[in-house]
Amino acid sequence: MNQMTPPPKIEIIPTSAPFSEAQRSWLNGFFAGLLSTDSAAPLSAEQGAAVLQGPTGDGDDGEAPWHDPTMPIADRMKLAEGRPLRRRMMAAMAQQDCGQCGYNCNDYSDAIASRAEPRLNLCVPGGKETARMLKTLNEELEKAPAATPGPAAAPAPVVTAEPGRSRDNPVPATFVSRRLLNRAGSEKETWHIDFDLSGCGLDYVVGDSFGIFARNDLGHVDQIIALLGALHTTPIRGRTLREVLSDEVSLAPASDSLFELISFITGGALREKARALAQGEDPDGDAATLDVMATLQKFSGVRPHPEAFIEALEPLQPRLYSISSSHNATPGKLSLTVDCVRYVIGKRKRLGLASTFLAERIQSGDPVKVYVQKAHGFALPQDPKVPIIMIGPGTGVAPFRAFLLDRKATGAPGKNWLFFGHQRSSFDFFYADELNALKTSGLLTRLSLAWSRDGDKKFYVQDRMREVGREVWTWLAEGANIYVCGDAKRMAKDVERALVDIVAQHGARSTDEAVSFVGDLKKKGRFQQDVY
Ligand SMILES: Cc1cc2nc3c(=O)[nH]c(=O)nc-3n(C[C@H](O)[C@H](O)[C@H](O)COP(=O)(O)OP(=O)(O)OC[C@H]3O[C@@H](n4cnc5c(N)ncnc54)[C@H](O)[C@@H]3O)c2cc1C
Ligand SMILES: NC(=O)c1ccc[n+]([C@@H]2O[C@H](COP(=O)([O-])OP(=O)(O)OC[C@H]3O[C@@H](n4cnc5c(N)ncnc54)[C@H](OP(=O)(O)O)[C@@H]3O)[C@@H](O)[C@H]2O)c1
Repeated sequence: MNQMTPPPKIEIIPTSAPFSEAQRSWLNGFFAGLLSTDSAAPLSAEQGAAVLQGPTGDGDDGEAPWHDPTMPIADRMKLAEGRPLRRRMMAAMAQQDCGQCGYNCNDYSDAIASRAEPRLNLCVPGGKETARMLKTLNEELEKAPAATPGPAAAPAPVVTAEPGRSRDNPVPATFVSRRLLNRAGSEKETWHIDFDLSGCGLDYVVGDSFGIFARNDLGHVDQIIALLGALHTTPIRGRTLREVLSDEVSLAPASDSLFELISFITGGALREKARALAQGEDPDGDAATLDVMATLQKFSGVRPHPEAFIEALEPLQPRLYSISSSHNATPGKLSLTVDCVRYVIGKRKRLGLASTFLAERIQSGDPVKVYVQKAHGFALPQDPKVPIIMIGPGTGVAPFRAFLLDRKATGAPGKNWLFFGHQRSSFDFFYADELNALKTSGLLTRLSLAWSRDGDKKFYVQDRMREVGREVWTWLAEGANIYVCGDAKRMAKDVERALVDIVAQHGARSTDEAVSFVGDLKKKGRFQQDVY
């Protein structure tokens, strides 16, 4: 998984420090309390320790068996039952370690539990169900036993992120151009996007992701203003309503606060429905389709005041994209490979915020607020001689294009094997010319392709891997690192299963031994995943 650098860490006292485990836990709790920046009083050392260790005071709460992005939230919460609050908070998150919140799941939950992080709505893949569960768990935190007198009040440390290195401190980069990667006739719309970083001075290493603060579609914004019956120029916090709607708030799934607001200003059956929706119920079976506009249409007679309306919306969250270029190869330039999200519900076309912003709204020369999200545990091997096997169907190819360009620019001698797959060979072979040229030059030792919709039967990258399993095993036995990037929900799991089968079959191991072999590769950093 792509684990991200957390802002304030909770494991402050290193295991190497000269303290017993109990002393270390207490000190971690103490500093967790100090780090609290919430408006509520900072936690005392005892409270901090209790949150970290749980009611039993048992600091060692073991592994996180719910840490699986394919497991539904109800199952995850069940597995975490009886665990300390911070662990149940972690279970509420989407388990992708995707970094969009600025942390990995473990560190985000620790930060909330220690009150260093007041925002409960940062888990993008977890969406509303995660935010709701975190709210409930946070209420438990608020009811934590009254503080025993804490340490002398100390000012909370100010955490200042380096410009352009975190979602809390973005910088402007210049959008240069876009190019469609699919041929006409494809069912997909995937764009190669170029940015110029020379103005903001950012750099990156391959494996890092790029955070984008997109802007909502202005046509969509104007329709919402019309539904509110408001003026574009209505002043909100020193800006116009139109400006605030365009770049400060999310117009996607309607927040519980919006339903609450509607329930306050309406009556009768409508009020009951709005209340039920605010509590996560689904009175009309349409809750999953209710973005902000659909909500205003559903409660069409209700016109909240623009100021209250804006306050009830969620802040606009940045989106992350795997960087598909190498700073060593093209200093000051950065590329992305972006699949465009468009779908229709009822009669209305819905637009993915950031992907359509990059695909159609931003123009050459425009500044965009961005940051580089450092990858943790997803990088080229330090030793340039180490062979690498890369498995990246669809947009999963992005970081591997970057790896290959980087290895070419630095003259790394290690062998490189890419598994790429997509729907159809004639329409969806991204970067075909480049990859074929890299193969001809010898840099790309092997290129294995899998087209899922060329034949009668689906054929995926893991099917190709199985076909050449003996060679995959030989590369692993020679010390190759193996990487997977792309879909977290299905592909990554299926690829890992195929790898286990290959190890079992060609490495002459039982399934259990193969599972532990693959687990060991992960622990040693030889099997790395960047999935979303
Ligand atoms: C570390 C990381 C790296 C990533 N790298 C890449 C990358 O290289 N390339 C890339 O393209 N993406 C990548 N992503 C995904 C990317 O961050 C965005 O999630 C993606 O582009 C969608 O964002 P959006 O703002 O366009 O759509 P959003 O506005 O976020 O809308 C997406 C949401 O729309 C809904 N939705 C989508 N399709 C449908 C449908 N058919 N029916 C109903 N609802 C639907 C779903 O709720 C979905 O969650 C990465 C994510 C992470 C975390
Ligand atoms: N948050 C978002 O809304 C958002 C935005 C962009 C991408 N994504 C997700 O990110 C992933 C990447 O999307 P993408 O456009 O890069 O490509 P993709 O939709 O994942 O498709 C890439 C290839 O992978 C195949 N595939 C499907 N299931 C697979 C499996 N279990 N194992 C191996 N291969 C499988 C696809 O085949 P078939 O399709 O023919 O089965 C296709 O050939 C997708 O899962 C997508 O849902 C999400």
